Amino acid sequence: MKCLSELLHIRRSCWQKLFAQNSFKRPFSSISYQELFEYSSKNVEKDANDGCVVLPNFITEDEEKCLLNEIEPKWGKSVYQEGHWDNAIHLFREVEVSSWSRINSTIVSRIKSHSFNFNDTIRDMTHVLDLSATGFIKPHIDAVKFCGYCIAGLSLLSPSIMKFCDEKNPDEWFKALLPQRSLYIMKNRVRYKYTHEILKTEESYINGKFISKDRRISIICRTESMASQQPNDIFQAVPVSLDET
Ligand code: OGA
Ligand code: MN
Repeated sequence: MKCLSELLHIRRSCWQKLFAQNSFKRPFSSISYQELFEYSSKNVEKDANDGCVVLPNFITEDEEKCLLNEIEPKWGKSVYQEGHWDNAIHLFREVEVSSWSRINSTIVSRIKSHSFNFNDTIRDMTHVLDLSATGFIKPHIDAVKFCGYCIAGLSLLSPSIMKFCDEKNPDEWFKALLPQRSLYIMKNRVRYKYTHEILKTEESYINGKFISKDRRISIICRTESMASQQPNDIFQAVPVSLDET
């Protein structure tokens, strides 16, 4: 009996050691921009550079607290949902917020002004998603019918890893480390042609380093779906007229 419990203990401490050896030891603030990304190939790196940005420390610790003070009471009695087989998200709860306190609305406006063009139509509702420590988001593409060419998300409480896979070839992928208080922006090709997911805690590796994911809240702003900005229009090469006469 004693042996078994010792073995379990050893196994557990080995795992902890493995995680500790491979995890980021430096503060996230010292991570270079390159270290926030990992690519399966040069092709993917180009797509990622064109359509995905991570802005670490987008908000201060005080601003994070202020957002959490307004968000936390909104959960009321709602518990984490398991998600059904066809749902993309496991162990989460969510709300849509239409109006924020004066101070938080300046933060949400900052997300929008950094992420969208001045003439974009932005969805009125801000999506707030609470993922439990053991929750994760499976690979998916946001519905083209409801969401436009650009999606921006602020990460609160915990770092996590977002993985993007070419929808047609999942061997082509890139990962982005989303530090706590960072903003990510995905648009155009990355938004339409790549699935995105938040990795499970035990799969949270980037560049060989383990990222300890905990409960995470995201604040997501999206542009409205516009027929003129949908993939066919965005990706269709403008026909070049060879007939100059
Ligand atoms: C989603 C989604 C990402 C995030 O809700 O569709 O992909 O940052 N969320 O929580
Ligand atoms: Mn999504």
